[in-house]
Amino acid sequence: MRAIPVIAIDGPSASGKGTVAQAVAQALGFHYLDSGALYRVLGLAAVRAGVNLESESEILNILLNIKIKFEEYKVMLEAVEVSDAIREEPISAAASKVSAHAQVRRALLDRQRAFRQAPGLVADGRDMGSVVFPDAALKIYLTASAEARAERRYKQLIAKGLSANMADLFEETTLRDQRDSERAVAPLKKCADAIEVDSTNLPVFEVVALVLQHFAAISGKR
Ligand code: DC
Repeated sequence: MRAIPVIAIDGPSASGKGTVAQAVAQALGFHYLDSGALYRVLGLAAVRAGVNLESESEILNILLNIKIKFEEYKVMLEAVEVSDAIREEPISAAASKVSAHAQVRRALLDRQRAFRQAPGLVADGRDMGSVVFPDAALKIYLTASAEARAERRYKQLIAKGLSANMADLFEETTLRDQRDSERAVAPLKKCADAIEVDSTNLPVFEVVALVLQHFAAISGKR
């Protein structure tokens, strides 16, 4: 039996992964997994509980005691919507910190793999192609210059009515990417079999079209 196809989209923060992955999922009628949201909810819960983000056992304990749910495109923590709260900058940093723990990552594996349902899945994150879905039909490594990414994050936050400062955002995203790339477990890296797409000067619709083209080319051979 043919495996349910997965399109893995990995890359650094604010490279456009989420927007592209959602549009690709919609175009193909596939399910969508925002793996970063899982780490963000855990980061939010940990910050609210006031625990030490560097403590693997304390973070794992929080993870095992909270209920995270996705309802359509809403993210819920204990039945309360936290879709906006998890996007704030302090929570981005907390998500990056809690995601560095090996046991935390292991505890979230099955949960992420459960999203793989017919007719297919588009998953975005840092280790979708390397760890969670190593047999993905298509692996995209989506990048953009650090300046373009900081600017995108800035615009996203302002559009949501949140406060933001370009210089701080640039520093925070650079630091976060460094932490995500240098950690020992499942670091952000381009897989050997991933196709790199630089979105610095590409509008979203072109990136989406490119991913769909690559998938169509593969599907023809499957
Ligand atoms: O994709 P994002 O920016 O929402 O992710 C938030 C943080 O979660 C990111 O800084 C690192 C972590 N993360 C991860 O370690 N592995 C993933 N697959 C997705 C996110």
